[in-house]
Amino acid sequence: THQWRGIIEEYRDRLPVSADSPVVTLREGGTPLVPAQVLSERTGCEVHLKVEGANPTGSFKDRGMTMAITRAKEEGAKAVICASTGNTSASAAAYAVRAGMVSAVLVPRGKIALGKMGQALVHGAKILQVDGNFDDCLTLARSLSDNYPVALVNSVNPVRIEGQKTAAFEIVDMLGDAPDIHVLPVGNAGNITAYWKGYREYAADGVATHTPRMWGFQASGSAPIVRGEVVKDPSTIATAIRIGNPASWQHALAARDESGGVIDEVTDREILRAYRLLAAQEGVFVEPASAASVAGLLKAAEQGRVDPGQRIVCTVTGNGLKDPDWAVAGAPQPVTVPVDAATAAERLGLA
Ligand code: F0G
Repeated sequence: THQWRGIIEEYRDRLPVSADSPVVTLREGGTPLVPAQVLSERTGCEVHLKVEGANPTGSFKDRGMTMAITRAKEEGAKAVICASTGNTSASAAAYAVRAGMVSAVLVPRGKIALGKMGQALVHGAKILQVDGNFDDCLTLARSLSDNYPVALVNSVNPVRIEGQKTAAFEIVDMLGDAPDIHVLPVGNAGNITAYWKGYREYAADGVATHTPRMWGFQASGSAPIVRGEVVKDPSTIATAIRIGNPASWQHALAARDESGGVIDEVTDREILRAYRLLAAQEGVFVEPASAASVAGLLKAAEQGRVDPGQRIVCTVTGNGLKDPDWAVAGAPQPVTVPVDAATAAERLGLA
């Protein structure tokens, strides 16, 4: 009887739904805010991880998708469409099933993690692999939703942002106030837009005394906002944020400037280092894109740009199981042993 009810029921008065809205939910949200001991020691700050990989389909997208699919159903849509680097498509496919709708997803060919593809497939999405990048997929999805009877559920749909802002509410509700800094990875820039909206709303209503500085990190090979220009052929191992022309670019700049924050970049090497640190030292397995937030925090700390004593939240956006290739790559092969305790003990260094 005390189960978390999903973000729409938990935050109904702060979301654009009515009493008659046909709520489509997998009980998303209510994700762990985990104190990060090693990161706190390294930065001299109080660092927490908002573990969004604990959502029903394994990423933060579910917060926006419960809103987008609820709205689509309310408006009588029979089909939904999205462009995706993987997580949005997994989420759209699952929520469409709950709503009894058909989902269509457009993904960049060869550039989405296997786990995410598996999710879209098993939930019965109609998948097109587009010969192009995410930005091309989004252009195509917009054009199809403009011209055919299919609702667009990308974060350019404003109700997606409404749903995703609830992560900021949860953080303030847990900590008792807003953190000093909020760090997150930036791809299409919907999520940084959403958090900033959530924090502003809570501050405006006096639930929080202040808003945090927003720190966003792009992957170096896909850093249009940092460069100030569209990246035609974005590249990074963090396929989730392999985006060269973010739809919410201007909103991301607003979040940065209004909050006194920064949008910077991290290299793939820095991302992988943070990815391994999170798994090996904090016990939190995330997908590579998610580690961009932590990589950015560590980089800033090493450059002396993080004053000690602050309260910092890093969002880690997606579950590590979605893209396990990077966990396996470069790791030593497990040793094979016979069914023999003495040998096993010896190989484990116990004897
Ligand atoms: N982290 C993960 C795991 C993501 O899947 C995404 C975006 C981001 C970070 C960046 O968030 O786009 O709001 O700035 N994934 C989208 C997708 C593009 O299609 O799943 P953003």
